Amino acid sequence: MRNAPTRSHGRKSIAASSKPRSLMETEDRLAHAWRAVVVTLLPDAFPGVLGQSLTGKALKDGVWQLAPVDLRPFGDGKHRNVDDTPAGGGAGMVLRADVMGHAIEDALARSAPDAPLIYLSPRGKPFDQNRARDLASGPGVTLICGRFEGLDQRVIDHYDIEEISMGDYVLTGGEIAAQALLDACVRLLPGVLGNESSTEEESFSNGLLEHPQYTRPAEWQGRQIPDVLMSGHHGEIAKWRQKMSEALTKDRRPDLWDRWRKKTPR
Ligand SMILES: C[S@@+](CC[C@H](N)C(=O)[O-])C[C@H]1O[C@@H](n2cnc3c(N)ncnc32)[C@H](O)[C@@H]1O
Repeated sequence: MRNAPTRSHGRKSIAASSKPRSLMETEDRLAHAWRAVVVTLLPDAFPGVLGQSLTGKALKDGVWQLAPVDLRPFGDGKHRNVDDTPAGGGAGMVLRADVMGHAIEDALARSAPDAPLIYLSPRGKPFDQNRARDLASGPGVTLICGRFEGLDQRVIDHYDIEEISMGDYVLTGGEIAAQALLDACVRLLPGVLGNESSTEEESFSNGLLEHPQYTRPAEWQGRQIPDVLMSGHHGEIAKWRQKMSEALTKDRRPDLWDRWRKKTPR
């Protein structure tokens, strides 16, 4: 296996190094940090938006760590080729099994023990808040970003990789999908959001979409804030919010509405 240059974002950062990998990793790993290792052809795309605002602060504070693994140095030959034409013909290129296998071995050596290995893929199981909660309560994740037509199936089978989709549409690559997944997980880590209760009351947390929100000014473009929200009656406000949540969910997401009705005693 080749030693790929890597960078790590977070409180401690490492430059490309000729040190043995194991030594570098023990120096770099933060014991209690939630650890994300990401195999990608675009390592410079990370941390991207995750380096901003609350997720960025948490990264600097060492609440979580991010280690992109650059796929390119694992490529084949002088040009470090990572892809080839699809067996059986057809459009596009496929990421080679041998190249991806080496990169995955490298990523696993950097990952938290027992972190799930996930390939971002439009064929995967749809990502949701429950999965985000589940991943955030674990040690971290190892993510694989696809490009072109995706991964050689043998890699997925060999490593028994979980496939997760960010929605029923096709992105150019897995990097934006990986960042969306990481954002959804990191904001659930203890201490990342200022106001812990905000994750308990937001959309999906109780199976419903969130009620509408308002703030100052009291009147804007002739539109008023609903009287009940200005009334100071906490019981009435809670009832109104619940009613609005139910109405929105019923109207926009009949799938969530059916599930919520089945599990909620009436
Ligand atoms: C152009 S797509 C490949 C699409 C693939 N040929 C298919 O039809 O399923 C390239 C890469 O983008 C990522 N990707 C695209 N859409 C995605 C989605 N909805 N969710 C997660 N990852 C996605 C995957 O990593 C994928 O390997």
